[in-house]
Amino acid sequence: MGRAGSDGIGLLANQNRNMSRQLFVTTALPYANGHFHIGHIMEYIQADIWVRFQRMQGHQVHFVGADDAHGAPIMIAAEKAGKTPQQFVADIAAGRKPYLEGFHIGFDHWSSTDSPDNHALAQDIYRALRDQGLITVRTIDQFFDPEKSMFLPDRFIKGECPKCGAKDQYGDSCESCGAVYAPTDLKSPYSALSGATPIMKSSEHYFFKLSDPRCFEFLENWTQDGKLQTEVVNKIKEWFTKDENGVGGLSDWDISRDAPYFGIEIPDLPEGSPRKYFYVWLDAPVGYLASLKGYFEAGGPKARYADTRSFDEYMADPAVEQIHFIGKDITYFHTLFWPAMLKFSGRKLPNQVNVHGFLTVNNGEKMSKSRGTGLDPLKYLSLGMNAEWLRYYIAAKLNSRVEDVDFSRDDFVARVNSDLVGKYINIASRAAGFLSKRFGGQLTSSLGSDGQALLRTLQTGSAGVAELYEQRELGKVLREIMLLADRVNEYVDANKPWELAKQEGQDARLQEVCTVCIEAFRLLSLYLKPVLPVLSANVEAFLKIEPLTFADSGQLLAGREGGHSIGEYKHLMQRVDPKLLDALFEAPAAPVVEVPSPGGEDIAPVITIDDFAKIDLRIALIVNAEHVEGSTKLLRLTLDVGEGRMRNVFSGIKDAYKPEDLIGKHTVMVANLAPRKMKFGVSEGMVLAASHADEKANPGIYVLEPVAGAKPGMRIH
Ligand code: MSP
Ligand code: ZN
Repeated sequence: MGRAGSDGIGLLANQNRNMSRQLFVTTALPYANGHFHIGHIMEYIQADIWVRFQRMQGHQVHFVGADDAHGAPIMIAAEKAGKTPQQFVADIAAGRKPYLEGFHIGFDHWSSTDSPDNHALAQDIYRALRDQGLITVRTIDQFFDPEKSMFLPDRFIKGECPKCGAKDQYGDSCESCGAVYAPTDLKSPYSALSGATPIMKSSEHYFFKLSDPRCFEFLENWTQDGKLQTEVVNKIKEWFTKDENGVGGLSDWDISRDAPYFGIEIPDLPEGSPRKYFYVWLDAPVGYLASLKGYFEAGGPKARYADTRSFDEYMADPAVEQIHFIGKDITYFHTLFWPAMLKFSGRKLPNQVNVHGFLTVNNGEKMSKSRGTGLDPLKYLSLGMNAEWLRYYIAAKLNSRVEDVDFSRDDFVARVNSDLVGKYINIASRAAGFLSKRFGGQLTSSLGSDGQALLRTLQTGSAGVAELYEQRELGKVLREIMLLADRVNEYVDANKPWELAKQEGQDARLQEVCTVCIEAFRLLSLYLKPVLPVLSANVEAFLKIEPLTFADSGQLLAGREGGHSIGEYKHLMQRVDPKLLDALFEAPAAPVVEVPSPGGEDIAPVITIDDFAKIDLRIALIVNAEHVEGSTKLLRLTLDVGEGRMRNVFSGIKDAYKPEDLIGKHTVMVANLAPRKMKFGVSEGMVLAASHADEKANPGIYVLEPVAGAKPGMRIH
């Protein structure tokens, strides 16, 4: 079944229960190396609103997510944390709930790409591709860390930029001049894991033959037949086109990684072959299917929709629509690799890949993909800020295009206070009191022509509102609803119930005006329900009505047999106090220390600037750090201070740091301290670290680290 037509007629057809759609909806699977940030929450809010809307249309939806558990970065992070990768990702997964519940994001099921189902499914898909002749093996040369005994992903190789000579650059691109290159192009490369000089080593890699004409032909059709957003289609055209050097186009995709790797083993390797694993992006999208399978196995569809089919039967039903919500950075994987994997393993193809832009905070402030910044979702909740303010605000900013969205604090306060509370909530608070005090909550069924006309306008708005939700034009939906709210407020201002209440003989008119307000409020609540699920539930309780669906826009309460009474109005939503935004964006406060000399020792006697100038302090890169045999206190550091040679420095920080936590960090060293002969060798300088004078009572040693951007050899003035 297609999507709703834009004429409103297709939409009415869709409201017919007999034509209910079957939707399988996912959001991107977040890497399990960190907690959710506000960018993730934005994606989930967008998808959750769409899912709730579809359910209110009477459609059947399965909405699933999972943690993306595999890959080298997670393996390395786990090692640093002293955990197994399994334990590491389980700990992250354990922290997901407060975010999802806190923002009312209603996934039906949440799984992990490390689940047994995903292992089996990824291997099945691989075997099918292989049987189609779409897997090929090639030997490639790659950097290998001889100390860690592992092949190095590009991000873990550093060295000098081949273009501009900047030191300490990553293996894929230079942060100094912007050049893009292969890790093998770096000068004096070193492993960011151990500091060792990597060696070239060859190994067999498995490739998915995307260059096969069958793939090209399929993808060319699949990507151009109108299901993707225009900007996405244009981007794909670029990817398809070769430049004048013949570079570009679809090339084969390297889908294997050598041990050690946290991932799914490639099955059926030739006898005697070393173990190989799927590259994380091969099994990650398979996790969508595995999570849905897990949901079926847990009996979810049966409990919710009395659907007794198996996962396989469900997926074999051509009426089922598979819909992915993702961010723009992972478009390539979802519009080329993933559909090709599905197609040639004989599976259902995505019906929609809905791509959104990135969220920035307070005017485009850059936000790290892994850590996020600025707006901490849990802090938002712990300040007592209403999750539905954020849902409303995010929705107001979103459209169906791939545009970035900025969270602006002033805009947030304005939209919530003047639109959501000022225009919508106030309608109920202005009318409900009179109804309950004067008429026992009873609505009247005799409405004047002005009230009837207003309510008819609101009811006819239903089709347009639904169509905008369907198209993910959430900003437009809310504008449309607020325009309807404006009409209601004009009616209230024209009829002034607070004055009618004071006049003799106006009881009937007062009851009528308040009834119209409540009917209008019910319709607006219905339209806002996908965005404000908790508020709507409270409205349903207050109005004493069944859960609202879109089919309910056709009738009014006042026309009900035997009439209708509403309950007591309770406050539904507060305004935002702008002070909350100050608190939200305030840096975490430093702990208050009551002693006058927090370091435990008095400030040293005054020196002159010339005294200070004698000390040559430099930024140093910690190229390596290791334990010193026979020493309980010392670490041996290999430092680069930009002299073209390495310094050997012993530092008494063994208790405070694991060597691997220091490697790759920058610090500050005294570069002109006389070399000192020690039991374990010569120390050529000193690394700066902070500690309390009374280390026993106040333990802790903190090595200094410059703000990002400082380069080895820079002098501290
Ligand atoms: N693990 C992969 C996805 C695998 S899907 C089979 C991944 N994970 S992620 O945690 O980095 O990102 C998860 C989702 O969050 C992606 O859709 C990504 O685009 C989205 N976002 C990450 N940062 C974002 C913003 N600042 N704003 C909005 N969405 C962003 O990629
Ligand atoms: Zn460069």
